[in-house]
Amino acid sequence: MPIYLDHAATTPVRPEVLSAMLPLWGAGFGNPSSAHAFGRAAREALDDAHERLAAAIGGESREVVLTSGGTEAINLALKGAAWAGRARGHRIITSAVEHHAVTHALAHLGKFGFEIVEVPVDRYGQVDPDDVERALTDTTVLVAVMLANNEVGTIQPIAEIAARVHARRGALLHVDAVQAGPWLPLHVAELRADLVSLGAHKVEGPKGTGALWIRRGTHLLAQQHGGGQERHRRAGTENVAGAVGMATAFELRAAERPAAAERVRAQRDRLVAAVLAVDGVELTGHPVGRLPHIASFIVRGAEGGDIVLALDLEGIAASTGSACASGSDEVSHVLAAMGFPADEAHGALRLSLGRSTTDAEIEEACRVVPAVVRRVRDGSVGVTAG
Ligand SMILES: Cc1ncc(COP(=O)(O)O)c(C=O)c1O
Repeated sequence: MPIYLDHAATTPVRPEVLSAMLPLWGAGFGNPSSAHAFGRAAREALDDAHERLAAAIGGESREVVLTSGGTEAINLALKGAAWAGRARGHRIITSAVEHHAVTHALAHLGKFGFEIVEVPVDRYGQVDPDDVERALTDTTVLVAVMLANNEVGTIQPIAEIAARVHARRGALLHVDAVQAGPWLPLHVAELRADLVSLGAHKVEGPKGTGALWIRRGTHLLAQQHGGGQERHRRAGTENVAGAVGMATAFELRAAERPAAAERVRAQRDRLVAAVLAVDGVELTGHPVGRLPHIASFIVRGAEGGDIVLALDLEGIAASTGSACASGSDEVSHVLAAMGFPADEAHGALRLSLGRSTTDAEIEEACRVVPAVVRRVRDGSVGVTAG
């Protein structure tokens, strides 16, 4: 069996989630907006999923808008908040290490006159809240900083950033919690953000399903127009099965998060120690303030892409960083922002664990990964690791 160490890209749907979704594709196929019994049953399932998801993340049902994934939630949050605040100002502050869903959505807004200001990060990929404070002006409508990074796992000081943002009236804070949501204690109301984006497929839920939490009273302009679904904030017949799957996945994770995070952290630390034993390898991201499931490295003198291919031949699924950017020759904007020169950033390798990762798999990975890394670096790709 291949060993899957790319849970930051996506996770397998867990059996309980699949069983919860299946009836909605069968007899429960109704449209929640229909008045008849089929519709009413679908409406009940959808409303229940809304309630359960909201409870699992510490919010209220009416504050949750279901979307087609993290990317759509982020686009709705950023564009919706920017346009709703346009009369007040045009400045948007973000970090240099956001996911492309954020950076590209903001670049799009930049074409319409919004001023996008990127605050730097340190060597570990962390934002200094004082930099955010210095960038804030009276014309700032939005600040977008992720809860934790998907490539290197670094957790941002969101509470400190939120305090700075809210000391100045008017600006909203968006937090991309797509990668962090499954692993950090998640209570949206306590995060002190106004908008929080989440996705289901990083937490053993279905792909193409996400949610935006919108603090009650926050005004957004809808970005998708049509019917009046999701309280007029996101038009389109709802993905009822997806909603049920996402609610189930978050509910299950909320109950088991502390234990799962501890187990995965211990496994991850064993793997990190094994890989760091190879000369010329450096851990990227914050050594302590990082998501428990991500082990990320720079291998000097090697191409990360070559290591991923060689690992695949050995039955280990890894990645160089963001799955969305794989296949491009560009180096990671995250590593560049952290100060890694391009030649070093080319040596990026990310191993990400999941709730289902076993100790036996980690034992095998601790044996195979260092051997493969050494061999690729020494120029002999694809040799059986021993
Ligand atoms: C931090 C972060 N933000 C946003 C996304 C995009 O989410 P989705 O794949 O659900 O569109 C991802 C997933 O790749 C992510 O890791």
